[in-house]
Amino acid sequence: MSTIIITGGAGFIGSHVVRRFVQNHPESRIINLDALTYAGNLENLLDVQDAPNYQFERVDIRDASAVEASFAKYQPDAIIHLAAESHVDRSITDPMAFVQTNVLGTMNLLNAARNIWSGQMEGKRFYHISTDEVFGALGAEGYFTEETAYSPNSPYSASKASSDHFVRAYHETYGLPIVISNCSNNYGPNHFPEKLIPLMIHNILEGKSLPVYGDGKYTRDWLYVEDHASAIEAVYLQGQIGETYCIGGWNEWKNIDLVRLLCDLMDSKLGHSQGTSQKLITFVKDRPGHDLRYAIDASRIHQELGWKPAETFETGLAKTIDWYLSNEAWLHSVTSGAYQAYYEKQYASA
Ligand code: NAD
Ligand code: DAU
Repeated sequence: MSTIIITGGAGFIGSHVVRRFVQNHPESRIINLDALTYAGNLENLLDVQDAPNYQFERVDIRDASAVEASFAKYQPDAIIHLAAESHVDRSITDPMAFVQTNVLGTMNLLNAARNIWSGQMEGKRFYHISTDEVFGALGAEGYFTEETAYSPNSPYSASKASSDHFVRAYHETYGLPIVISNCSNNYGPNHFPEKLIPLMIHNILEGKSLPVYGDGKYTRDWLYVEDHASAIEAVYLQGQIGETYCIGGWNEWKNIDLVRLLCDLMDSKLGHSQGTSQKLITFVKDRPGHDLRYAIDASRIHQELGWKPAETFETGLAKTIDWYLSNEAWLHSVTSGAYQAYYEKQYASA
């Protein structure tokens, strides 16, 4: 039986990746290493928590000896590394937290993998999950590809870029068998309501204002989270060692258009007259260093690995809204306590 360590498996994307691997790979033991920060929630995994090939271990990747100990205990054949501080706004108020987890935490994993696989790298795989934000901002035209130069603009994207560089350097220098993917904005069930789509859904449900940064003309390329999980499985199984793959949804939206669409969809679902939720839209102070546009050219993963998204934005958004409406207890539990203090500080001048 092979052993796969998935880091950050209690978070938004990680929980969908863990579920997919537990269900699709009964021949593999899936170990979820997660520190359970504010963004990690084992309730995301209730349906697989008793599966015979699944195990959770609470480990903080900033702690090198804890990482070494769990690698020694489980002897992994592969690592799929998602654990990170992931929210751009938090990186602006506390950049060091992003260096500690995203850079130093990744270094601890790289060192542990190198130690445990020393002299026997054949068949092993260190798969690092990264973001399109490392490429910086696009103008009105063009797409990010695997050839695009790195140009990160936020402390979050700088920390992810740094970790990508270390992962690549461990391949070049020590022969560590790595693969990297850089994905665009995900959305879907279990998305923490500090991010645009779930924050808007939550605020519409609460009748609170909908804070749109700047003029709302910033553009993102949205991908349903289960489609990212299927892309990760494809790269894990077929991606070439030492290579990177860009993953995206071919689905660009200006924030203001997306928020208006969400308002209309929510009004229909909630039986409100059209236009009710749009009245809550409020333009607020812009995010510093705000990247104008992200868009991925995902032809490589499509042509070489045969991957493409299964959901359209229409079906993905419908599934997402239905999930939040059926899981109000989840939404309530993650937005009580520390979330309130975060929200008040972040949107103080909104
Ligand atoms: P998330 O914030 O929802 O979850 C992060 C998870 O990592 C949580 O379970 C948290 O408890 C865990 N974690 C954080 N610090 C840790 C530490 N020190 N030790 C162990 N565990 C720790 O993040 P997400 O949105 O699911 O993103 C997952 C990964 O995918 C990240 O690496 C992110 O950079 C990348 N990514 C995200 C998106 C997106 O749109 N959300 C897009 C592309 C790439
Ligand atoms: O592109 C991939 C990245 O997508 C991931 O690497 C990050 O982990 C993930 O958080 C996401 O980053 P963004 O900054 O694009 O996502 P966020 O949901 O924070 O914001 C999306 C857009 O919406 C962005 O232009 C900022 C804007 N926004 C966001 C919030 C939270 C608002 O206008 N108002 C808000 O309240």
